[in-house]
Amino acid sequence: MAADIERGKTLYSQLCFNCHGPHLDGGIGPALKDQYWHHGSSPEAILRLINKGVPGSEMIAFEAVFPEADRLALRDYILSEQEGLREVVRSVYSRDYFKGKRFTPALFDSVEPESQTPLPENLYYFERSKEGVMRGTSKLYIKEAGDYEFAIRIIGRTSIFLDGEEVHYSDEKTDKSTHINKKFSLKLGIYDLEILHEEKPSHSYRFHGVLKSDSGKQFALNGRSLQGNIPKIIKARPGQALVVRKWIADLPPRALLCLLPNQVIVVYNPGDGYVIGAWHSAEINQTPSLPDRSAKPSEIKGTPIPDAGPNAALPGINRFLRYQVEGDTVHLVSLADGEEKTVIISPKGAQSFKLTVQ
Ligand code: HEC
Repeated sequence: MAADIERGKTLYSQLCFNCHGPHLDGGIGPALKDQYWHHGSSPEAILRLINKGVPGSEMIAFEAVFPEADRLALRDYILSEQEGLREVVRSVYSRDYFKGKRFTPALFDSVEPESQTPLPENLYYFERSKEGVMRGTSKLYIKEAGDYEFAIRIIGRTSIFLDGEEVHYSDEKTDKSTHINKKFSLKLGIYDLEILHEEKPSHSYRFHGVLKSDSGKQFALNGRSLQGNIPKIIKARPGQALVVRKWIADLPPRALLCLLPNQVIVVYNPGDGYVIGAWHSAEINQTPSLPDRSAKPSEIKGTPIPDAGPNAALPGINRFLRYQVEGDTVHLVSLADGEEKTVIISPKGAQSFKLTVQ
């Protein structure tokens, strides 16, 4: 490991890990080695973010904290942990110009795109693009040397260039004997990857492909947009409790998560009226993970409070009616033996909660 990466790793483990996780896998702040880069995955974008932070968030400007050499070392450490596609940009061009011409990066350089969109998911996806030809440019970070090859669903025509060399060409209209699908050896490092693709004007893009290695590594080239579902941390605001329902692994699906302003989360099961558990210094992380983000439940991050539940002090509840938040306190109203009973949960000290039944 180069000296500055080692230095970056040391600095990371002194400070950044508190929010971004010991293995860059996220916490209060987003993961720094998955595919999703909200603020951009280029070396410039990452350095800018370390320098300037994100005003209004926990991510402060580290310009004033570390000398430049240390900020560069942090950037280089983060970059050294990347794997797969980064800096993905999708450009769309009008179709006519490309008619009858073989796709090359130089051909695309010679004409202006109609649109150019950085894709923070670092996967190709399309909106209503029925028209046009796509050029996808990206960096490919390889952390495992070996023999690689593209597997592309043959729809329309696709050319793929790796560091300027054509490694894949397929076209549903031409004879398969003209197709190219090279196997190539990759060393550890960063490559330029370009995907040039066109489909019939009659349907929207159905481009689909993976890059795979002989040892079984796979990088998806296409995926879904995360729009409307960007990584998010849920916490109560100061002085104000918050109740949410989220899918959390190992908790009943309808569990109510009561987030108290002292960062305590109390999980209440409206099905049986019991408190199932509680955490302090806690928050809900619903940062989606790529590429299986749709399948990943949210998580409670925090320290379990011992003996918080199951709490057997609430017998006889047979139907949950409603909840209500009043300032820092949550009221959970159920029917018990024909009578309304209210479980009241409020913060106690910095790391605990008070539970009463009325
Ligand atoms: C107090 C918590 C905290 C600490 C400490 C912290 N960060 Fe962050 N960081 C965040 C949060 C929160 C965000 C998301 C900001 C936003 O987009 O609203 C973030 C975002 C980032 C991003 C952008 C990620 C993306 O997806 O675009 C980078 C890069 C980053 N932090 C690097 C660092 C580095 C390097 C350090 C250590 C020097 C550090 N952070 C320390 C909380 C923190």
